[in-house]
Amino acid sequence: MLNFTYKNQTEILFGKGQLSEVPARLPKEAKVLFLYGGGSIKQNGVYEQVVTALEGIEVVEFAGVEPNPEFETLMKAVRVARETEVNFILAVGGGSVIDGAKFIAAAVNFDGDTWDILTKGASFENPLPVGAVLTLPATGSESNGNSVVTRKETAQKLPFSSESLQPQFAVLDPEFTYSLPARQISNGVVDAFVHVIEQYLTYPVNAPLQDRFAEGILQTLIEVGPLALDHPTDYDVRANVMWSATMALNGLIGKGVPQDWSTHMIGHELTALHGLDHAVTLAIVLPALMYVQRDQKKVKILQLGERVFGIDNGSEDERIDLTIKAVQDFFESMQVATRLSDHSIAESSIDNIVANLERNGMTALGEHGDIDLDKARQILTLAA
Ligand code: NZQ
Ligand code: ZN
Repeated sequence: MLNFTYKNQTEILFGKGQLSEVPARLPKEAKVLFLYGGGSIKQNGVYEQVVTALEGIEVVEFAGVEPNPEFETLMKAVRVARETEVNFILAVGGGSVIDGAKFIAAAVNFDGDTWDILTKGASFENPLPVGAVLTLPATGSESNGNSVVTRKETAQKLPFSSESLQPQFAVLDPEFTYSLPARQISNGVVDAFVHVIEQYLTYPVNAPLQDRFAEGILQTLIEVGPLALDHPTDYDVRANVMWSATMALNGLIGKGVPQDWSTHMIGHELTALHGLDHAVTLAIVLPALMYVQRDQKKVKILQLGERVFGIDNGSEDERIDLTIKAVQDFFESMQVATRLSDHSIAESSIDNIVANLERNGMTALGEHGDIDLDKARQILTLAA
C-alpha cells in the first residue's frame, strides 16, 4: 500500500428532513450566498424548503449556474459576492452548482486574473466556506475539494482542487432526487461507477480493503442503478444511490492506491468541444480505454470481472473481453450509449479532440503516465 494522509472535513447530514440542521452550522452573523442552477429547485419544492430553513438569516440569491458551470457566469457571482460581502456560500444543486460554489469561494479574495486558478494552478487565500445541499447524486463534489469549470469562449473544461474548498457540510436527502429526469439518474450512476473505476482499475499494490470498498460500491451501483430508473420515488433505492455516489469520490477508496483519471480527462474534451453530458463522455471512453490498456490493467480487469461480474471462465484474454463487455452492457442498461457515433460525432472530429488534449497538457495520462496523444487517438478511434 502507498503512503497517504486522510482527512475528510465534510459533515454528512444524511436523510429526510436534514435540511433543518443547516442554520446551526452557519457562521455567526451569517450572510449567505444561496447559489443554485437553472430552476429545478423551484419546480420540486427544494427552493421553498431552503428559504424556510434560512428564515431570519441574511441571504443573497444567485441563480443560473448552468450544467458544466461557465466561467463567465461564476465571475458574475464572484462580483455579487464581493459587493454584498457574503461570508458563506450555500450551494443547492448537483455537481455543477457545488463545483461553481467552490470556484466562487476561491476567486472572491483572489487578486488578479481568476482564470489562472484553473490554467496555472494559481494559489488563492482565504476562500469563503461552502456548504452543499445535494440534489443529484453523481460527482461526489459535496464531500471533496474538486471543481471543474468550463469556458466556452476557449473551448476548455479544466479541473482544480483544494482541501480548503471542501464543503463544511452536505445535506443528502434522497427525497430531493425524486424529481430527477431519468437521464440525470443514468448520468449519476455512470459517473459514480467510473469514479470508482478510476481509483480501482490500475495495478495491485496489496490494498485489499480499498479493493473491496471499491468492489462493494460497484456492486451496489449495479444493483440499485436500474432500480432507480424503474422506481423513481423508492426512498431506499435513492438513498443507496446517493450514498454510493458520495462514497465513490470522497477520497476514501483512493487512499494508498494508484489512480488513473484518464477517462475523465479525455471525457472533459468531449464536453468542451461537443457539449456531451459528463457521464456520457465517460461511457464512451472507458470501454475503449480498458481495451487499449488491457495489458497494463490486466490483473485488476480480471479481478473486476471475477468479483463484480462473476466472470471466472475462459482464458485471460477471453475474460478481459467479457469484462469490458460487461461494463459496456451496464452503461447501456442504464440507457447511456457508448459510442461517439451514437452522438453523431464523426471520426474526423478526433483530430480536434486530440489537439485539445495537447493544448491542455494532457499528454501523459493514466496511472503509468503512458497514455500519450497517440494512445488517446487509438482509444477515441476504437470508440468511434
Ligand atoms: O440547473 P438545475 O435547474 O439545477 O438542473 C440540473 C441540471 O440541468 C438538473 N437537476 C439537478 N438536480 C435535480 C435536477 N433536475 C431535477 N431534479 C433534481 N433534483 O440536472 C442537470 C445536471 O446537473 P449537473 O449539476 O450539471 O449534473 P452533475 O451533478 O452530473 O454535475 C456535472 C458537473 O460536475 C463535474 C462535471 O465535469 C460537470 O461539470 N464533475 C465534478 C466532479 C467533482 N467535483 O469531484 C467530479 C466529476 O467527475 C465531474 O467532473
Ligand atoms: Zn466524473
